[in-house]
Amino acid sequence: MTQLFDFGLVGLGVMGRNFLLNVADHHFFAIGLDTDAQKVSDLIDEGHSDIIEGTLDKVAFIKKLTRPRKIMLLVPAGRPVDHVIADLVPLLDSGDLIIDGGNSHFEDTNRRFTSLKSKDIYFMGAGVSGGSEGARKGPSIMPGGDPEAYEIIKPIFEAVAAKVNDEPCVNFMGKGSAGNYVKMIHNGIEYSLMQLIGESYQLMKLGLKQDNHRLKQTYHDWNQGVLQSFLVEITSQIFDKKDDFTSGDLVDQILDKAKQKGTGKWTSQNAMDLGVAIPTIDAAVSMRQISSMKDIRMKASEKYTERSDGFAPEISVEEVRDALYFAFIMSYAQGMDQLSRASKEYQYDLNLQSIAQIWRGGCIIRARFLEDIHLAYKNDSSLENLLLSPAIIDKVNSVVGATRKVVQYTVAKGIPTLALSNALNYFDVFKSAELPLNLIQAQRDLFGSHTYERKDRSGVFHSEWD
Ligand code: 6PG
Repeated sequence: MTQLFDFGLVGLGVMGRNFLLNVADHHFFAIGLDTDAQKVSDLIDEGHSDIIEGTLDKVAFIKKLTRPRKIMLLVPAGRPVDHVIADLVPLLDSGDLIIDGGNSHFEDTNRRFTSLKSKDIYFMGAGVSGGSEGARKGPSIMPGGDPEAYEIIKPIFEAVAAKVNDEPCVNFMGKGSAGNYVKMIHNGIEYSLMQLIGESYQLMKLGLKQDNHRLKQTYHDWNQGVLQSFLVEITSQIFDKKDDFTSGDLVDQILDKAKQKGTGKWTSQNAMDLGVAIPTIDAAVSMRQISSMKDIRMKASEKYTERSDGFAPEISVEEVRDALYFAFIMSYAQGMDQLSRASKEYQYDLNLQSIAQIWRGGCIIRARFLEDIHLAYKNDSSLENLLLSPAIIDKVNSVVGATRKVVQYTVAKGIPTLALSNALNYFDVFKSAELPLNLIQAQRDLFGSHTYERKDRSGVFHSEWD
């Protein structure tokens, strides 16, 4: 009798292979499909042959799946996803489920969702976070689409996802493209946290003269406290890595140009469309762009030789830690704000508490602070903004003073902190009852009769300014 499989996966790169092995670890029969024979044999070489199979033959792959078929794609976002779907659909039956586990743009997911619905095939966009290690040992999974389609895959996703307090880091995010949308925001926050850690590194290297050995210890220590997070933990690990080609450390040999696949940029672009301000995330995206202008930066550094001799306060490592914590809070707050606006705009009906809950483990932005976010929304499900939660207000108040000192220091010393100083400015703007935008309204009305509203009476006004 032919063996039937519970779960199929298309795309046996490292992520796909690891995800499939994870599924098999949880006693589900899993089959992988790829066009590359090497990748198929790499999967088979991993063992588990009694429960795993790999194939190059899409017809055999489809025939061997139990119905309704559950097929996950882990192929590069964009055209490859459309090609695989077009290849599989003629072989599928009504009620089968295709899950796109890549970083697809949410608008592509909407298009695919509608098109497959008309063919009576379920489509789900599921963000999967945690890199190849997460895929193998337990990722955070953000599925969206039809709630009844989620029920089909739920037992497998709950089994393979990371666990925090025995709760799986997966939950149904919402209708349509909600899963990919939530993953996009995850990545925007990821960009921001990474940039902020980078700025703390440069500031402690140039300002506090910490060498790599010391930096390793500093990030290790920080990871024991409020900053405990996957990204701070791996940062410590990075400073420990020796270079294979020279006698120095690897980090010093890596070119300072950061690449990007686009999810951070999409977050910023979409925030503009929604009219949500996420300037710290935007700054992190801009820094990736500025980093790639290496040649021009090198020329400029020779031409602008200003010595920064302005007053700089003495700062301690603990104050830098507090400033980083402050800016982490601002980054998460901006991401949550965007989620809350998008939920209304796209009728996703997102549950922010549930999102914070599944981000506590498995994903790249997992951090102790996510427990605080989770509790903030648990205690007040209609919380308007994370920064208005009493518990978060206390945390922000406890570190804002140190942040001001650190930003003052970096400005005086000319150490760039586009994201950190931006986080502080965002906060100052956020808590300002009065902003100078009345003047902008006056300017608009003066040169273009664009009208303005008044503080003391309702209605729309225009003045003759001459
Ligand atoms: C994750 C990550 C992952 C992302 C990489 C690279 O959650 O596992 O977000 O999905 O692809 O972090 O992203 P960039 O190439 O844009 O930096």
